[in-house]
Amino acid sequence: GGTAMAKEKHKEILNVSHRGASGYAPEHTISSYQMGKKMHGDYIEIDLQMTKDGTLIAMHDEALDRTTNGTGLVKDFTLDQIKQLDAGNWFNEKYPQYANPDYLGLKVPTLEEVFQKFGKNASYYIETKSPEVYPGMEKELLRLVNEYDINKKSLLVQSFSPLSLLTMNELDPSVKLVQLLSYKANAAITDVEISAIKEYAIGVGPNHTYLNQEYVQKVVNSGLEIHPYTVNDKETMNKLIDWGVTGMFTNFPDRLHEVKKGK
Ligand code: G3P
Ligand code: CA
Repeated sequence: GGTAMAKEKHKEILNVSHRGASGYAPEHTISSYQMGKKMHGDYIEIDLQMTKDGTLIAMHDEALDRTTNGTGLVKDFTLDQIKQLDAGNWFNEKYPQYANPDYLGLKVPTLEEVFQKFGKNASYYIETKSPEVYPGMEKELLRLVNEYDINKKSLLVQSFSPLSLLTMNELDPSVKLVQLLSYKANAAITDVEISAIKEYAIGVGPNHTYLNQEYVQKVVNSGLEIHPYTVNDKETMNKLIDWGVTGMFTNFPDRLHEVKKGK
């Protein structure tokens, strides 16, 4: 409900396809990213790990085990070795209701392949994962962003590590940054924390679990964006929009699209 202006505002809420449309397709595969776009996701969310030979790949975990048929740490394998793995079969086994034979044999994509596939004007929301394990990953990310001439207006780089974001900021202050936050109980943020984050980031990404309206309002009124993760049910999506969030990460971008339409 609300005024015409409020209605317009709801339409601008960023719909971030978390690991692609990862509720419906194996996370961090080209298929999952394509489905995210089809389901009206505005941004493709990409987690980064780095291979033994220094290639950035799209994967959430430091280990291969959960999302491929491999075992061990990404950092101990070359890209060639990781390219032998199947990144889709696990999904069919775990989620028979969404299983699709097309997912069999999907490969782990490199960041470069994702840029090649979706192009410079797609919107990417890229997370530097475990930056302490992968020294130099920020520089390599930036090298690819520049090589593929990625539109920086629709690029966001996110991390739980303030140090990684400060490194990005130092290397290229024109890249927009989001500080991820994880709360284990009632979320609260001080003015000092907000000021510190505003030094380098345009927004924060807290887990939605322990959020409250006061928190959301405080962050928004400070001029920061707020994109909670990972919101998969419509009831919570509705609540967060009413509280004033400016976007959210979801494994089900179609659901967020419908919730936004109903506002
Ligand atoms: O990047 C937002 C959210 O994805 C952070 O948590 O563990 O799913 O990467 P995680
Ligand atoms: Ca992430």
